[in-house]
Amino acid sequence: MDISIDEIDQIINQEAFGEGSLIAALEAIQARYNFLPSEAIILASDRFGVPLSQIYSVATFYNAFSLKPKGKHCLQVCMGTACHVRGSPQVLDRIQTKLGIEPGETSRDHLFTLETVNCLGACALGPIVVTDGEYSGQMNVQKADQLLKTILRAEVKA
Ligand code: FES
Repeated sequence: MDISIDEIDQIINQEAFGEGSLIAALEAIQARYNFLPSEAIILASDRFGVPLSQIYSVATFYNAFSLKPKGKHCLQVCMGTACHVRGSPQVLDRIQTKLGIEPGETSRDHLFTLETVNCLGACALGPIVVTDGEYSGQMNVQKADQLLKTILRAEVKA
């Protein structure tokens, strides 16, 4: 996705001159681009009169923000203890193999980002995989294959 300075400027101005806050502006940019481009951080610093270092602190503190471009679909595999003992390492391994990426990486086609997380608070349903915010429980290798197939089929249709 191309980064548009004008568009970022517009989003920031809407928040800066409305009731919004720096966080709201960053959330809007994150929602639009799936990450916070450096251009956005510089513009936000200027508009809100907040030092760059402070904006980077906010951006790295909250999990909702990413400083690196993410894929269209974000897969999070829970590696917390309960999910781990129920087989999340095998699920993670399968997804890594299928997508050809490691946790923290985005596929070359920018379709997938793979992440690991520690306990999502749904241990009884583990292993858990979260796809674009949607929880899938009792995950196993076969279900992971199916999950990826479903996403890819939807992409082909789109
Ligand atoms: S360990 Fe995975 S949800 Fe708690």
